[in-house]
Amino acid sequence: MSTAKKEYKRVTVKSLVEMKKNGEKISMLTSYDYSMAKIVDAAKVDVILVGDSASNVMAGHETTLPITLDQMIYHASSVIRAVERALVVVDLPFGSYQSDPKEALRSAIRIMKESGAHAVKLEGGAEIKESVKRILAAGIPVMGHLGLTPQSIYKFGTYTVRAKEDEEAEQLMEDALLLEKLGCFSLVLEKIPAELTKTVSESLTIPTIGIGGGKYADGQVLVVHDLLGMTHEFNPRFLRRYMNLYEEMGNAISNYVSDVKSQDFPNDEEQY
Ligand code: KIV
Repeated sequence: MSTAKKEYKRVTVKSLVEMKKNGEKISMLTSYDYSMAKIVDAAKVDVILVGDSASNVMAGHETTLPITLDQMIYHASSVIRAVERALVVVDLPFGSYQSDPKEALRSAIRIMKESGAHAVKLEGGAEIKESVKRILAAGIPVMGHLGLTPQSIYKFGTYTVRAKEDEEAEQLMEDALLLEKLGCFSLVLEKIPAELTKTVSESLTIPTIGIGGGKYADGQVLVVHDLLGMTHEFNPRFLRRYMNLYEEMGNAISNYVSDVKSQDFPNDEEQY
């Protein structure tokens, strides 16, 4: 059952702010390739994130750090070719925006120009202020990302819940207000207490999108491979699995192997 309040033929950054105003929750999901993005877009997910989580789920790295700008552009352009309705946001990968604002702008321009994406996402608050400003000044929409920011995993040391203590929660709130003031159109809040998500969401006019941020965010995001149960070893509390594709795909592939071995496949109807 759909609970959409308004039909959007094409979701834009403005549509998201409008959804928040209308009390309509925003759905966001990752995709990294053409075939998956076709399915996700046809299911009317509002925002498709070409996340740097591609580093984990597509390339098998332990963290998001190794993925390169060229690789992100490759994933993003595959997604863009599939999408008709969703807003496509692409992560600026680690190392492509932290050193200086000019480099950040060059990276964002490459993503927009070479993939056809609609917006970029950057992790961090005050420390990346100048980069966010410069990218926005070039007319590129920016989504922020606070809380657990996986590109800083070696600084945090663990993937546990962030901003449980007052000091970090206050800093997060300040950063959220700053990102809104700079002109970001939306903000991902990752793995923070639900009550903090509530306070932040109520203090901003731009929508918050939670992952492990609880029910008060203006929208939710998950990694599509997690939602479909393809990544069966990853079991955080915030994850709701809608399928067990790891098992279902495994069974289908085992059946194929047996059919080939037993010479059941191909049969007379499956040949020329
Ligand atoms: O890369 C990603 O998939 C993300 C989401 C977890 C928000 O940044």
